Amino acid sequence: MPISHFLSTKDLSDAGLQAILRDARMFVSELGFRHDRTEALEGRNVVLVFFEPSTRTRLSFETAAHRLGASTVVFNVTGSSLEKGESVEETIATIDAMRFDAMIMRHSHEGAIAKLAKLVHMPVVNAGEGISSHPTQALLDASTLLERLGTLQGARVCVVGDVRHSRVARSQVDVFRRLGATIGVCAPQALQPDTNDVDFHDCEHFTSIDEALKWSTIVSLLRIQRERINGIDLPDLPTYRSQFAMTADRALQHNEQTIIHPGPVNLGVEIDEEVLSMKHSLIHRQVTHGVAVRMAVLQHILTQHPSIIVN
Ligand code: CP
Repeated sequence: MPISHFLSTKDLSDAGLQAILRDARMFVSELGFRHDRTEALEGRNVVLVFFEPSTRTRLSFETAAHRLGASTVVFNVTGSSLEKGESVEETIATIDAMRFDAMIMRHSHEGAIAKLAKLVHMPVVNAGEGISSHPTQALLDASTLLERLGTLQGARVCVVGDVRHSRVARSQVDVFRRLGATIGVCAPQALQPDTNDVDFHDCEHFTSIDEALKWSTIVSLLRIQRERINGIDLPDLPTYRSQFAMTADRALQHNEQTIIHPGPVNLGVEIDEEVLSMKHSLIHRQVTHGVAVRMAVLQHILTQHPSIIVN
């Protein structure tokens, strides 16, 4: 039987998408987690291979695995034989030979995870890749919004900030549209997606957050991803804030909006600190749903029929 990797939200059938969201909701409750620990993955070993920094995704995948009774091993680039000249391919083949049950991978280059997944004999889950995709982030965003709003049918979601370099935005567009939302984008010229970027075809476009706020019901904020930006002229900070930031004043004026952000946040740039604790901001709740969604993904990948994943 072929191995079912989970590399993109587009790998999920509609039934698979609904099943992950339904199961995530079973794991999460208002105060924390319904099942602090289950033994569904007892005896399984999950390896986390992150070629790029992470706080939320790495810790939540580890926590998710532990809450399901699995053990985890974390591969750290620093201190590994990559520093002695070993290739990434040989590193992955070496980890594969240790026979884990699943590999969670983050990589900074588009296409790298699919290429490396071909070298291993276990399911690989994309934990964020280049500017192309971050499937579990989009699922946790949807899970958080569905908990608050009940449905995304008819919702108008505007993605505001560095859309051009965002793997999160690309995955969100797919998931949110499939759940019935209409998508808008709002970014400075230099951070707008290319006109030939098919992921953003048929999106509404806005040139300021004030315009976007009049149209949207949900605002998905993004930080400027400086680690992926080369040779682009960005607006200076005061200009950026005046046109694209969720300042405390704007958030107070638009308290009917629902605000999400995948994190990490750059306070005082795309968002003010006060906004984080406002009732219509779901930013910390997203982190809680991150664990629940990753529990659901791991459980499906490791114990359930692979037809839930279409690839
Ligand atoms: N949202 C997200 O992927 O955060 P980390 O980089 O901290 O994992």
